[in-house]
Amino acid sequence: MNDAPPTSREWLWTARARLEAAGLGAAVEREARLLLEQATGTSALSWWAHPERRLEPAALQRAESLLARRERREPLAYLLGEASFFGRSFHVEPGVLVPREDSAALIELALELAPRGARSVVEVGVGSGCLLATLLLERPTWRGFGVDLEPLALRCTRTNAVRHALADRLSLWRGDALRALHPRARFDLLLSNPPYVTPSELAVCEPEVRSWEPRLALLVPEADPLATYRPLVERWAQSAPGTVLVCEVGAGRADAVAELLRAHGARTIAVRADWGGVPRAVGGVL
Ligand SMILES: C[S@@+](CC[C@H](N)C(=O)[O-])C[C@H]1O[C@@H](n2cnc3c(N)ncnc32)[C@H](O)[C@@H]1O
Repeated sequence: MNDAPPTSREWLWTARARLEAAGLGAAVEREARLLLEQATGTSALSWWAHPERRLEPAALQRAESLLARRERREPLAYLLGEASFFGRSFHVEPGVLVPREDSAALIELALELAPRGARSVVEVGVGSGCLLATLLLERPTWRGFGVDLEPLALRCTRTNAVRHALADRLSLWRGDALRALHPRARFDLLLSNPPYVTPSELAVCEPEVRSWEPRLALLVPEADPLATYRPLVERWAQSAPGTVLVCEVGAGRADAVAELLRAHGARTIAVRADWGGVPRAVGGVL
């Protein structure tokens, strides 16, 4: 019996087959390579140059553990501790929503609608901090204030603020929606990607979302899918003229959210689609 650890080529071959059996179709090649890189701390280029090199026992153990987690459909971003958003890399960990490229529509709309001379942006539900950090990186004169109920999310945002040298422009607090914000506090832009998935919608999501991502970040009541938008819109409606609100919306909900903004005094309303053509960001100016 041959007890030698597998070569990188052998391990990648087995990993691809196991990921395919777990239902990971087209992505298996790339994912197997990323898991191997994560486990060994060595770039794929080096593995390709020496495909007959055998894995060290400790690296093999790490690679097997990552592969087993991915077979159970834990999101790849949790295993790598990284996700990319708007061309930058952000730390992410279990308990925090994985950044979605669809949310780029929010960034584009927020930058388009922000008033000239804007200085401050408040985000409700910062999660990993990818949205707020991106806006501050795109607009170096802005200050950001982020709120979340989940301590893990605040810790993750803090890590990303340090990583992107934003710690002196980004403040965080733990709280429920906008309750912690002083009623007369002023801001130029209010941003949110609030929970907007109903239980029946979650039931048909991919296992990565359904079984691993935090319910607090996703779920709204079946009977009231706009529940998380109302407190935001009501607080925004009490703000100074010119203040902008930009929200992410679930598929098919853009019109209902736009109507909510209109009913609360929006002068201008704009909708931006994501890269798949789904209306994904709704913005209003008071
Ligand atoms: C859909 S995630 C968005 C995360 C991040 N902004 C992003 O786009 O990747 C919603 C976030 O809102 C937070 N959250 C849910 N309910 C909240 C509430 N009542 N008050 C504050 N934050 C809340 C969750 O913890 C989660 O981080």
